[in-house]
Amino acid sequence: RRPIDSDDIFLALDAGTTDVKAGAYDRSMNLIASCKRRIGVYYGQGGVVEQDPHEILEAAKYCLNSILRRIPKRYGEPKAIGITNQRESVLAWEPIDGRPITKLISWKDKRGAQLSLDLKERYGQVIKDKTGLISDPYFSATKIKWLVENIKRSSNHKNYVITTLDSWLVKNLNSSSIKPLTDHSNASRTMLFNIDSLEWDSDLLEIVGISEEILPEVKRTIESDSYGKVKLTYGSTTREVPILSVAGDQQASLFGNGCLYPGQAKASYGTGAFILENTGVRVKSDRLLETLFYTYKGKRTYALEGTILSSGSSIDWLVSLAGLKSVPRSILRAEQIERSHVLSVPALSGLGSPFYSSDIRGYISGLSESTDIYEVIRSFLEAQAFLSTVIIEEMRKHIKLLEPLHIDGGLSKSDLIAEMLANLLDMKIIRERNVDATMKGIAMMSMIGYYGIDERKLTVSAGGKEFNPNDKRDEIAEKFNSWRSFLLSVISKNQG
Ligand code: G3P
Repeated sequence: RRPIDSDDIFLALDAGTTDVKAGAYDRSMNLIASCKRRIGVYYGQGGVVEQDPHEILEAAKYCLNSILRRIPKRYGEPKAIGITNQRESVLAWEPIDGRPITKLISWKDKRGAQLSLDLKERYGQVIKDKTGLISDPYFSATKIKWLVENIKRSSNHKNYVITTLDSWLVKNLNSSSIKPLTDHSNASRTMLFNIDSLEWDSDLLEIVGISEEILPEVKRTIESDSYGKVKLTYGSTTREVPILSVAGDQQASLFGNGCLYPGQAKASYGTGAFILENTGVRVKSDRLLETLFYTYKGKRTYALEGTILSSGSSIDWLVSLAGLKSVPRSILRAEQIERSHVLSVPALSGLGSPFYSSDIRGYISGLSESTDIYEVIRSFLEAQAFLSTVIIEEMRKHIKLLEPLHIDGGLSKSDLIAEMLANLLDMKIIRERNVDATMKGIAMMSMIGYYGIDERKLTVSAGGKEFNPNDKRDEIAEKFNSWRSFLLSVISKNQG
């Protein structure tokens, strides 16, 4: 255990799908400096979605150096850093020098669709039992398989590893040579990791046809000495800051929202939307994902998760398709519309849980000659609240959901979504003051690792805007019922 000093600061690096961000936090987890860089996503034919790992690494270095320059002088040196990342996305790289030999295959990539369907038919239950996941191209396994086959066909590379982004960033930001490592929360999203035994599952590796040799070693989420150090330059000095936590971004944001007790939940509206509930122990569900939240010392904590595959990305897409300039301004105008008759299922990348239909696409109904674009944008926003409600209804079948539901992420700034959630779920919603709970969560984890304290003893600043059920409840419930019928018709049309 180290003494707690009020000048201590902790760093966070969040490598998301749309942005790479870095933040510096004080001992009470107040954000004291931050930096964000947008990164590109390449969408191609046949479900291809890729990103450039070099661009991600450059953005990470740029952001980390930039926040270091902006930390007020009265603070001490950064004590530790945590790294969090978009989950499931994978790339192949040289284990010795960390050089990437492929692009980053995004979690949104659908190249593994046929294989994951075959796996679902033959081994769906085995996969669910062992990994807690529902076979889908969203998870890493079929992307890893695709990479293995592709490397075999197109290059001479023999010595490579395939990992999620965290592992590659830890390697490439490290001041010393380090073997490929990942953490339990990231490993639990690969569909190859047994979430009971906490090991790569030999049966699943054999079923999918992947050798364990190409996978990283799996460590605890909060670790005191495994992940090495990041070399940082600030002022005229160079320092090495220990990496004390590595976690998937949605798990980090559950932590950052302070959901440290079973029954506490959060919904993050970023590129996709991810709703996670702390369940403490593993709670089984056929239609939701069971996943590892974090591991620390000898303890493991699980979560239930439901996913909306296109959230902020669906609004970005629509705003840009309509030729509108500003996403925030378009959202504000859409929110001001009194009543809209348009209903949408913005399944641009398929439907996530609890449906898991990767081949379904987006639908809009109720268009007329008097419909304007802001009505359609509004229907996309409303669909986020509706899809979230379907997921949370499912969660409530398994474990009581404690009030309030925390929301965060860029699209959570929409008051419309927050107000609708409060009415549909009949509960208080809290939007974090700083909507970036992911960075805060990974910084909190690194702080806990540094002090070696019990995470539930942590006192950090919290709070934000509250939304409560109001007199629009019946009107919103009525629209939800119409939307639900529309969704079911879309799903049955797709099945037919
Ligand atoms: O599971 C995918 C998720 O981790 C991506 O998060 O914030 O990049 O949309 P985000």
